[in-house]
Amino acid sequence: MASAEKVGIIGSGKMGAALISGILKSNKYSSQNILSYDKILERRKYIKSTYGIRVLESVSEVVKESSIIAIAVKPQDIIDVLKQVGENDLNGKIILSLAAGISTSYIVRYLPKNTEVVRAMPNLACSIGEGMICITGSRGTSTLSIGKIKKLFELTGKVILIDEKYMDAVTGLSGSGPAFVYVFIEALADAGVRLGLQRETSFTLAAQTTLGAGKLVVSTGEHPAKLKDLVVTPGGTTIEGLIEIEKGGLRAIVIEAVSKASEKAYQLQKGLKKYFDK
Ligand SMILES: NC(=O)c1ccc[n+]([C@@H]2O[C@H](COP(=O)([O-])OP(=O)(O)OC[C@H]3O[C@@H](n4cnc5c(N)ncnc54)[C@H](OP(=O)(O)O)[C@@H]3O)[C@@H](O)[C@H]2O)c1
Repeated sequence: MASAEKVGIIGSGKMGAALISGILKSNKYSSQNILSYDKILERRKYIKSTYGIRVLESVSEVVKESSIIAIAVKPQDIIDVLKQVGENDLNGKIILSLAAGISTSYIVRYLPKNTEVVRAMPNLACSIGEGMICITGSRGTSTLSIGKIKKLFELTGKVILIDEKYMDAVTGLSGSGPAFVYVFIEALADAGVRLGLQRETSFTLAAQTTLGAGKLVVSTGEHPAKLKDLVVTPGGTTIEGLIEIEKGGLRAIVIEAVSKASEKAYQLQKGLKKYFDK
């Protein structure tokens, strides 16, 4: 049955559009119950023509009509949006922030007392129902509201409730993670091209191999090292490649990449502190 809840999405860039797409594809929301606003006219036109949802002309219109208001603007734009959101009656509504690095304790400063606030870190795979989404409530947010957001995001992927202190770590891993995986897929495909495979064929092999390997980890629950050992036969071909991966220090590079992305999320809020504290 389609949800009667109305979801408003402010900011229809990459993440806002991914959320719209994922929710629509679940068929649990009618296109009339998904509302959006972006400050760029061209973007509003694009969203209307691509998804057929209701595209409104201001933040306030979205807030007034929606019971869940998802804010999907860049962290540096969030104060401006929160101020506009906070001018409305938010009774019975849930404010959902997708912004990297911005904690709920900062968000609530711009909203009327007792506003229900949930913070989430999704990723772009939400657009096809395969997202990884971590959510956390602000102090005082009811379990009912957190449950509603969990239910909403479950339409777009796997959801985990997490302590807010881990949000920056999550941002570096599952938020930024798709970009790291794409680099790996591209490198796999380049290797195929080097060995004479057509580019298209190489991409198919690389992407499907990554998808299948990930699905095996998820569906078996096995430690990745155990699954790796199933591929590596003694004296075989794979061990030759693995030696190169270890020589190149791939593990350390990936650990460092996630750590740096997480650190940047932490720094984002620190960088905005002067504006927040005004
Ligand atoms: N992309 C990801 O993979 C990802 C993953 C997880 C979380 N997030 C989070 O999602 C948020 C959005 O990221 P994104 O990658 O989607 O950014 P984006 O592509 O830049 O989209 C943000 C959109 O919001 C618009 N905007 C800015 N201020 C606005 C306002 N006052 N009212 C309405 N619209 C406004 C922007 O317009 P302008 O371009 O003119 O500013 C832009 O079209 C960020 O906070 C990010 O941390 C992103």
